[in-house]
Amino acid sequence: MNATKVTDNVYQLSVNVENILFEGLWEIPNGIAMNSYIIKGEKTAIVDGVCGWDGVPESLFKLLDQLEIDPKSIEYVIINHMEPDHSGWLEDFKKITSDFKIVCTKRAKDLIDAFFDHTNDIIVVKDNDTLDLGKGHVLKFVEIPNVHWPETMATFDTKTGTLFPCDAFGSFGTIKDKNYDDLLTPEEIAFYEEEAVRYYSNVVATFSLMVKRAIEKCKSLPIKIIAPGHGIVWRKNPNKIIEDYVKYASYQKGPAREEITLIWGSMYGMTEKAVKYVIDVLEQEKITYHVHRVPEDSWGTVLASVWTSTGVILAMPTYEFKIFPPMAAVLEEIGKKKAFNRKAFRFGSYGWSGGAEKDLMEIMDKYSMNWDFLESVEFRGIPREDDLKLIGERVRELVKIVRETVNS
Ligand code: FEO
Repeated sequence: MNATKVTDNVYQLSVNVENILFEGLWEIPNGIAMNSYIIKGEKTAIVDGVCGWDGVPESLFKLLDQLEIDPKSIEYVIINHMEPDHSGWLEDFKKITSDFKIVCTKRAKDLIDAFFDHTNDIIVVKDNDTLDLGKGHVLKFVEIPNVHWPETMATFDTKTGTLFPCDAFGSFGTIKDKNYDDLLTPEEIAFYEEEAVRYYSNVVATFSLMVKRAIEKCKSLPIKIIAPGHGIVWRKNPNKIIEDYVKYASYQKGPAREEITLIWGSMYGMTEKAVKYVIDVLEQEKITYHVHRVPEDSWGTVLASVWTSTGVILAMPTYEFKIFPPMAAVLEEIGKKKAFNRKAFRFGSYGWSGGAEKDLMEIMDKYSMNWDFLESVEFRGIPREDDLKLIGERVRELVKIVRETVNS
């Protein structure tokens, strides 16, 4: 856990979390950083909390000590977002000091009452309400519902131009010793970009329409620094992460990048033979592509690739009249995240019965995904020369369509 200075009178407390499934669901191979912030005016406020995976409250109090902040001097606990990765520490915090006021939206108040036993005063705020901490630190609140839960808001310190948006503008990836964009190399920034795509597609993607609205609201503020609840702080170039999030939100309806994601599964290697052929074709076409095998690769990784790809190739056998089950499961998740309007193609093997096509179309309809499919190629048993030739032609056609769609 680290305590660092963001800017004058603003400090970050950050803890890295690894070896968990985030939200009990998503693999995070590079971990995640949980960030909390202190603003010291004449009064002191803490914005969001760090969850209890790292010995909170002990480690938190050690850090406050480093910053020469008496926990009992914290008058305001600002809860931007009630998901327990940010609010779950409240119970522990109360063991040390109970004399603080909670600041949150009306919807968050209802959730606090549901999640915690408390006797604290709750100050309910709405759009554009302010809280004066003294020494010029007037905090302004901006409701950004559904980024990520309906009760979410962002807090803006008008003196330093620091926006605390909680989940918005966040990323996966632990923080080593450098947690500010001005301290990172371009390669390190690129690492957090990739982590931001995976975080966005796994956690926030469903609410992309609300993300767009939130960005428009936040853009009206004179932002100098973006200090999110996860990932690095954008102190040198906050517009970079804003523009990245604009792009990620736009990928929901497409077109996304000039990329193709190949998702495949195989029972006995029949479909796999054609997959190897397709990878050769994609190489020859010199298009950026991602390959994921199901069920081996995690849903989160597959989702991130599909989110940035304009084209998707599905390769799987029929299994008992249906799609190969792990492919169905990942497609359901992609549908729930609302990855719409992809250009797509499917091929695969069958033995004693077909049925995958019907099952696939039912999933597409269930989630109104509106994927535009080229005619599928199915082969009985192993793919023959003619099957591979036809699959290759379709893949080349898909590449052409993807390029035209992205560049039109
Ligand atoms: Fe980082 Fe929606 O919680």
